[in-house]
Amino acid sequence: MPTLASIFSLITLLAGIDAIRIPFKVVHTHNRASSNARRDTVNGTISIIDASNSIYLGDVVIGGTSYNVQLDTGSSDLWVQGNPANSNGLGIDTSITYAIGTAEGEISTAPVSFAGYNVTNQMYLRVGQNATFTGGLFSTGATGILGLGPSAGSILRAKIGNATADAVVDRIFESDPTTPNFISFLLERLGDGTPVQGQLTVGDILPGYEAITSQPQLPVLILKSILSKDQHWTTYVDNIIGPDNNTISYTSSVPNTPNGKLVTIIDSGFTLPQIPRDMSDDIYGRVQGASFDSQNQWWTVPCGQYLNISVVLGGVTFPVHPLDTVSSDFGLKDVNGNTVCLGSFQPITTAYSINNEFDMILGDSFLRNSYTLLDYGDFISNGTTSDTAAPYMQLLPTTNPDTALNEFIAARLQSSGPINYSLLPSSQEQHSPVPAGEVVEHAEADVLRYLPEIIIGCVAFVALILGCIIWRCCCTKRHRLARAQKKRGAYPSATKAVYRQIEEPGSAPMGMTPMNYNNGLKSPGRAYYPDPYQRIEA
Ligand SMILES: *[C@@H]1O[C@H](CO)[C@@H](O)[C@H](O)[C@H]1NC(C)=O
Ligand SMILES: *[C@@H]1O[C@H](CO)[C@@H](O)[C@H](O)[C@H]1NC(C)=O
Ligand SMILES: *[C@@H]1O[C@H](CO)[C@@H](O)[C@H](O)[C@H]1NC(C)=O
Ligand SMILES: *[C@@H]1O[C@H](CO)[C@@H](O)[C@H](O)[C@H]1NC(C)=O
Ligand SMILES: *[C@@H]1O[C@H](CO)[C@@H](O)[C@H](O)[C@H]1NC(C)=O
Ligand SMILES: *[C@@H]1O[C@H](CO)[C@@H](O)[C@H](O)[C@H]1NC(C)=O
Ligand SMILES: *[C@@H]1O[C@H](CO)[C@@H](O)[C@H](O)[C@H]1NC(C)=O
Ligand SMILES: *[C@@H]1O[C@H](CO)[C@@H](O)[C@H](O)[C@H]1NC(C)=O
Repeated sequence: MPTLASIFSLITLLAGIDAIRIPFKVVHTHNRASSNARRDTVNGTISIIDASNSIYLGDVVIGGTSYNVQLDTGSSDLWVQGNPANSNGLGIDTSITYAIGTAEGEISTAPVSFAGYNVTNQMYLRVGQNATFTGGLFSTGATGILGLGPSAGSILRAKIGNATADAVVDRIFESDPTTPNFISFLLERLGDGTPVQGQLTVGDILPGYEAITSQPQLPVLILKSILSKDQHWTTYVDNIIGPDNNTISYTSSVPNTPNGKLVTIIDSGFTLPQIPRDMSDDIYGRVQGASFDSQNQWWTVPCGQYLNISVVLGGVTFPVHPLDTVSSDFGLKDVNGNTVCLGSFQPITTAYSINNEFDMILGDSFLRNSYTLLDYGDFISNGTTSDTAAPYMQLLPTTNPDTALNEFIAARLQSSGPINYSLLPSSQEQHSPVPAGEVVEHAEADVLRYLPEIIIGCVAFVALILGCIIWRCCCTKRHRLARAQKKRGAYPSATKAVYRQIEEPGSAPMGMTPMNYNNGLKSPGRAYYPDPYQRIEA
């Protein structure tokens, strides 16, 4: 059993966390996409620029100047590096911390246009030159980030404390109640021969994709535990079908998750999907010639390896394009200098430290296989919108596995030649070693998960010890009393005295007020995720 001291140190640690930002992880530096930049803002729709299948950018106009910003469903604030005209500083500085950097600047307001909608006095963070990001965010042509997540996750909203600081999409829906409260997006895949122009819509369905409206509405799970302020686009995954066409079984780490399902975050700001380590091993550990890179925490496999996996959401199977499952986008080499490809479904190494909030993050390598609709429902509410329905998501599969197989052969097997891609038997599956730090994080997460039980256990334990001591004392005392009484010839009732003594010490363990850790979450945000992905600065 963990000591009380270790529980307290854990709580102290958590008390420093304000909000957890989970934007992109992998940034690829060379930019094939800037020539692709288009701005055909028509009717609530913008083109999305695909920067090397790693970062997806869209255009936002701030104070009359156009900025390319990363479109990030995993965060909820707008910041730009630069000094837009027609901008008013509020004299309040703050910083937003992401997995791989920090943006620091003055909270400001300016007229903002996004996807053809105009909002006045939009709050954003004017960052001047004070953004420090490792990885190549800026070299993709990005000048900032536009957060498309729920406003509960907004740093600016929390700092200002009222709806005047609502995020851009919130302000659009608030100022135009006739616009349905959803966005939708389609991400392009560079390099597969059948390019689809990436697009994002506000309140509109892309022509040709109307079938999305009859897809199941996936519930948006509201995170209720200690990080309740930091909401994301979170929902259930039914399961993942592995490359041998069998379901990879898994038990969610999130309490109260329906049997067999996993809790996932839909996050366009993550390049690589993050999945439980055992599932990643099951996908790549049976590939002949697969190797696990412990430093970067990912699998590398031969680029000609065809792997057909699917993710099932709401009963609907989403085949993942084999070009997404085994990625050639990062220019990786093995120790002998030969080109290898990256297993994009990477073991998740960071979620456990936040109290088993979720099991996985579906990033771009998955999202390229879906047309994705995010309906904010009553997430949007400055008191004027009529939409009181719960938020939901709808996803429409866009990858046909048979077509995808042909595209894979055309893209990969022409140059590298046919290779033996039959999987090793599962008895010969390789497993990635679990880093020591992750073992500790698992243990800490388990402590938090079972905290109520542990407290009850500790209290019971203390009460038991005290009970024993008291019992012993009383026995001795009763013994003495008995002897004394014997001399006088009468027995008093000792029972009352015993009960009274047991009640009193019982109040001491209950007075452990620091256990109410929700009170501790008000300190400023700080870097939280250790980021193992910075190393891919190719
Ligand atoms: C814009 O959207 C409206 C309503 O959805 C539609 O009637 C109109 O035809 C659209 N215009 C263009 C140029 O797509
Ligand atoms: C940005 O950096 C400059 C100099 O490095 C500093 O003077 C300024 O106060 C910083 N601004 C903010 C808002 O942090
Ligand atoms: C938004 O603002 C721009 C520039 O001021 C203007 O051209 C455009 O018509 C406005 N759009 C709407 C929908 O008001
Ligand atoms: C919102 O908060 C800001 C700063 O706390 C304050 O100046 C402003 O008056 C508030 N606005 C409303 C509408 O409450
Ligand atoms: C809600 O937002 C809209 C658009 O910004 C604004 O017109 C309206 O006054 C706001 N309502 C409240 C109660 O803040
Ligand atoms: C790919 O996997 C899906 C789902 O498991 C399966 O239905 C399909 O037959 C597979 N396709 C190929 C070409 O193996
Ligand atoms: C995979 O399994 C599905 C359903 O169990 C089946 O329909 C499909 O034919 C299988 N595909 C392959 C390639 O075995
Ligand atoms: C491919 O590998 C499997 C398993 O190692 C082996 O049984 C099979 O003969 C190989 N096929 C070819 C064409 O090399």
